[in-house]
Amino acid sequence: MSNYHIKGLEEYFNVYRKSVRYPEKFWEEIAEEHFVWRKKWNNVLSWDFEKPAIKWFEGAQLNITENCIDRHLLTNANKTAIIFEPNDPKEAAEHISYGELSKRVNAFANVLKAQGIQKGDRVCIYLPMIPELAISVLACARIGAVHSVVFAGFSSSALATRINDSSCKMVITSDGSYRGAKTIDLKGIVDEALNDCTTIESVLVAKRIHSDISMQEGRDQWLQPLLDAASTVCEAETMDAEDPLFILYTSGSTGMPKGMVHTTAGYMVGTAFTFKNVFQYRNDDVYWCTADIGWITGHSYIVYGPLANGATTLMFEGVPSYPDFGRFWEVVEKHKVNQFYTAPTAIRALAKENLDFVEKYDLSSLKVLGSVGEPINEEAWHWYNDNVGKKKSPIVDTWWQTETGGIMISPIPFATPTKPTYATLPLPGIQPALMDENGNEIKGNQVDGRLCIKFPWPSMARTIWGNHQRYKETYFSAFENKYFTGDGALRDEVGYYRITGRVDDVIIVSGHNLGTAPIEDAVNEHPAVAESAIVGFPHDIKGNALYGYVILKETGEGRKHENLRKEINQIITEHIGPIAKLDKIQFTVGLPKTRSGKIMRRILRKIAGKDTSNLGDTSTLLNPEVVEEIMKGAL
Ligand code: WT7
Repeated sequence: MSNYHIKGLEEYFNVYRKSVRYPEKFWEEIAEEHFVWRKKWNNVLSWDFEKPAIKWFEGAQLNITENCIDRHLLTNANKTAIIFEPNDPKEAAEHISYGELSKRVNAFANVLKAQGIQKGDRVCIYLPMIPELAISVLACARIGAVHSVVFAGFSSSALATRINDSSCKMVITSDGSYRGAKTIDLKGIVDEALNDCTTIESVLVAKRIHSDISMQEGRDQWLQPLLDAASTVCEAETMDAEDPLFILYTSGSTGMPKGMVHTTAGYMVGTAFTFKNVFQYRNDDVYWCTADIGWITGHSYIVYGPLANGATTLMFEGVPSYPDFGRFWEVVEKHKVNQFYTAPTAIRALAKENLDFVEKYDLSSLKVLGSVGEPINEEAWHWYNDNVGKKKSPIVDTWWQTETGGIMISPIPFATPTKPTYATLPLPGIQPALMDENGNEIKGNQVDGRLCIKFPWPSMARTIWGNHQRYKETYFSAFENKYFTGDGALRDEVGYYRITGRVDDVIIVSGHNLGTAPIEDAVNEHPAVAESAIVGFPHDIKGNALYGYVILKETGEGRKHENLRKEINQIITEHIGPIAKLDKIQFTVGLPKTRSGKIMRRILRKIAGKDTSNLGDTSTLLNPEVVEEIMKGAL
């Protein structure tokens, strides 16, 4: 029996039991049978959650691009690796075969080398969802450069912060991007960011919108002529199992974004295994994940996981609403998509529109539907199941995180019976635990607590770039000897998990992870603002939206509140990006604080969510009178 591809519920339970009892043996067999190695490991796993230090497949050598590309060339050179579906449906889709992908990645890798990029150097990629994005990611991996993809919706200052944090040497960008009917001046954003960066030596610019941009002599170069001149042969760099593959930033509840570091071998094994099982990918299937490669979902389940399985993966440049709300379903019909993976926020937005948009298209190719990024509510789950899957395609509600690298809790379709709003069971190799506030594990079923993982898995992040101490504090200090996820969860009577949401100051808005502290820092930059507190409140489409309580320096009439609201959101857009804009801004004279000066967000959350029947214990407040005041002014 192969453990790699699980096909039934009984098989799942058998494999799961084995993976817990003999984790090293379990992962070793998978690594052995399904990948190409230049040198095998000396040791499958060494770990210490105290330090923390986690190493998988130590001593092994490999290159992930040989696993994602080269090895498929023998048998599958003509198979489509990537389907590129452009923003504008009138523009032709592009089919890139494994053979062509190999040449394009190699040429790009040679360009990087010619520009002085070496193994271990960090390269920032700030591109829209065009083929160059996937190709540049793979080109970095080919030569052992560490890619740091920054989602091309982030602002110049967010980009600069990320470039500086990991001292990137190069930025790869484009002249601009399409987003529905709009274009965005990406190169302008990069130029602005680079005013605050000192480590960037060169900028490569892909042409996408053919806009008239300025190129800085000695720094900026058009990408295409360099690619045209480059050789399409490039020997892959030999990488150690634990060499960093990439950095990807994610928001924390405080301070700077965290540059999560993923390493080579474990990440490859983990994403390949989970892709195969969660989507039940078969040889001729067309798989589509609607995420952007700027997020972990795109790294693991558009690029690495699918390509490591020799799959056909679709990259979509556009948005669900352009030219109309039928766009997703049009693409499904056009490319006969078999597995479709999207976010609850997209499902909720589409469910609000006329059903004709769905019914117009032939969706009979669909076999598996996926959801990721936040809890999927019951209504959205049913809409997805009834109208997209026609009750025939199982929904995999996949719970995981940037930090976990790959899917952790998810049904295996056609094996695990699904249950709306439940991510169901841990995948093989994943050992969840629910913890109470005193740090004890809660055993048994029908319980809820804080979700931890008690044993390492191959695709987990190994550190935070430049700040191992923060890695330790954030993930390994709340509960002894366990990885703490930051989420709350409950376990039902049969052992299914339902993720209930963040228990820290991270808010998930439209599936994007936003820390409150960086937003508050941005708001406080406004000259009229004295202090602020941001909380989340339930929102029909976004899941959560942001509510800001703002104390002004002067409460005088002088300034118009409406203007101030616009200005505050403008500052947020500049510092972080439009995704972090506040839906509601309430001006207030004070914030409820404990005697130690900590803002009591629990109360602010309740007021923002219009749930004020029971505010809980307010006896420890320094200024209880302010609560009444805030309730009166609530929006
Ligand atoms: C947080 C991680 C993993 C890729 C996208 C987000 C929430 C994610 C689910 C789900 C309930 C979910 C959690 C998690 N989350 N998937 N299926 N059900 N919640 O990655 O930005 O690192 O965010 O997203 O709160 O901790 P991320």
